[in-house]
Amino acid sequence: MKNINTIEFKDNILYLIDQRVLPVKTEFFACKDYKEVEFAIRDMVVRGAPAIGATAAYGVVLAANEFKNEEKDVFLKKMEEALDFLNRSRPTAVNLMWAIKRMKELIEENKDLANSEIAQKILKEAETIYNEDIETNKAMARHGNEIVEKGATILTHCNTGALATVEYGTALGVIREAHNTGKDIFVYADETRPRLQGGKLTAWELVQEGIPAKLIVDSVAATLIRDGKIDVILTGADRVANNGDAANKIGTFMLSVIAKAYNVPFYIVAPTTTIDFEMESGKGIEIEERDGEEVTHINGNRIAPEGIEVYNPAFDVTPHENITGIITEKGIIRAPFKENIAKLK
Ligand code: MRU
Repeated sequence: MKNINTIEFKDNILYLIDQRVLPVKTEFFACKDYKEVEFAIRDMVVRGAPAIGATAAYGVVLAANEFKNEEKDVFLKKMEEALDFLNRSRPTAVNLMWAIKRMKELIEENKDLANSEIAQKILKEAETIYNEDIETNKAMARHGNEIVEKGATILTHCNTGALATVEYGTALGVIREAHNTGKDIFVYADETRPRLQGGKLTAWELVQEGIPAKLIVDSVAATLIRDGKIDVILTGADRVANNGDAANKIGTFMLSVIAKAYNVPFYIVAPTTTIDFEMESGKGIEIEERDGEEVTHINGNRIAPEGIEVYNPAFDVTPHENITGIITEKGIIRAPFKENIAKLK
């Protein structure tokens, strides 16, 4: 297992491993108030849908600590503003909105208690969200391991490991489990332009775990798939709609199209906290567009000419018809996705 906590709350400070500088440097970003938490999510100090959800929950803890000595109505108003502020930090990963909604409901149910008691309950809830995520990931890993054959070669995209969650990971959790149970697997990890979550973070986790793997540039994947070198593709998701359409890191959709063309099973590994039960299909999912500098520059150095315009969506939507199954903590969901996802509510 990794020896570094992605998220750690200690003495009223939230420590996040700074994923902007990994793997070259191991630094921690300390959030002392909820505004610093919002910045950490927006600036991608912390990434990955479940990790963002748990981080936001601790952002609410920090807001409650900051405002608990105010009069009750001021406290409730400031909490509402803080929750809305955190909710807007990134638009696509629904775990963020899920965690904030859970906190909102908790505050509403307990609004007649003393502020300090509400703050206590918020802290307990954040700890529950944190611990549940670990259990959920381990359950997904066990279910997912069932579809991994001995000796399988697995292709993965983006980072879905311990860094993208509280611990263990989603798709990389399944990979971890397959490796730990002696399946003798081999992994190809897409570098995942432009932010290189695969090259920087997944590669780091694979090396730490001693999982046999090779890093590839994203465009190698099609050749490997066509040549029969990939047995299964495992990716995470940032938001799954009711019909099974799944938003994930840009490039996932393209992989799913190639997988379908060459009959390679394509699985999404995502907890039920990543399912947006209010979203009918992927068409409604807001796709974050990020700064063009992520494309024109690498590590602060310009690689594209000045004056070029950039289109930089951070996610895409894989239609459910390209998905073999969605591995959740409650089991593997297959077509018909709409009916089977509805049973998870
Ligand atoms: O932009 P990021 O790095 O937050 O995107 C992360 C991903 O797309 C992951 O694949 C996703 O959150 C699912 S796995 C935890």
